[in-house]
Amino acid sequence: MSNEIARKLKINILRFDPNVPGDRPRIDMFELDEAPGMTLFIALNDIREHYDASLKFDFVCRAGICGSCSMLINGRPGLACRTLTSTMEPEIMLAPLPLFELIGDLSVFTGNWMRGLNERLETWIHTQEEVDVDRLEERMEPELAEEIYELDRCIECGCCVAGCGTIQMREEFVGAVGLNKIARYRLDPRDTRDDADYYELVGDEDGVFGCMTLLGCEDVCPKELPLQSKIAYLRRKMVEVGINKKD
Ligand code: SF4
Ligand code: F3S
Ligand code: FES
Repeated sequence: MSNEIARKLKINILRFDPNVPGDRPRIDMFELDEAPGMTLFIALNDIREHYDASLKFDFVCRAGICGSCSMLINGRPGLACRTLTSTMEPEIMLAPLPLFELIGDLSVFTGNWMRGLNERLETWIHTQEEVDVDRLEERMEPELAEEIYELDRCIECGCCVAGCGTIQMREEFVGAVGLNKIARYRLDPRDTRDDADYYELVGDEDGVFGCMTLLGCEDVCPKELPLQSKIAYLRRKMVEVGINKKD
């Protein structure tokens, strides 16, 4: 048995419930013993179970897959379920992700924002062919399938949105998450849209020309997606379409 004494964690949480009349933002501090392998998600459950059942935060998968538990962790967007307390100083500050609709405390409505984005960018396969569900799937080169899969790993957690300075200034900016989606469909041979169609969707300052290469998105993306190189490539392609349009 280990003789190590557990660290005391001080977890400060920005609390506010916009649905409670008269509620005002405040910081509550909870002190708890750190357990081996403890994640912030476990710590938050501990707090809810033993100290304050009214604490609001989201989770589904506990495995970095659903994207629900994103929040500001010491001022940086990240996933609570993938953050080990042992990697941090014992005093921790948690706040909800900015820019998204606040449900209460650490819970925000990213789904609403992401749905709007997906509808706006039409993030589904566009095809002229009639869909025949009995037809065998078409073969795709493994390298291409891998490349598409890599971009499909986005879990819509919203960390890149919260970490992007451009969105603070330009509300309609689609963010790295949106540009990543366009890059993904552009690669897909089943999608019959061409670059002129994508230009209509992201060939402006709310799209690829709004990105100021601030790089926060790639820094905070918990899935480590190659956001920067995809945005740069997409921008080059959209510049070509823009030049051709003028000719
Ligand atoms: Fe989250 Fe990364 Fe997808 Fe942005 S691109 S929503 S940070 S997984
Ligand atoms: Fe924002 Fe990332 Fe561009 S942080 S400005 S989308 S490089
Ligand atoms: Fe699903 Fe954290 S609970 S990503």
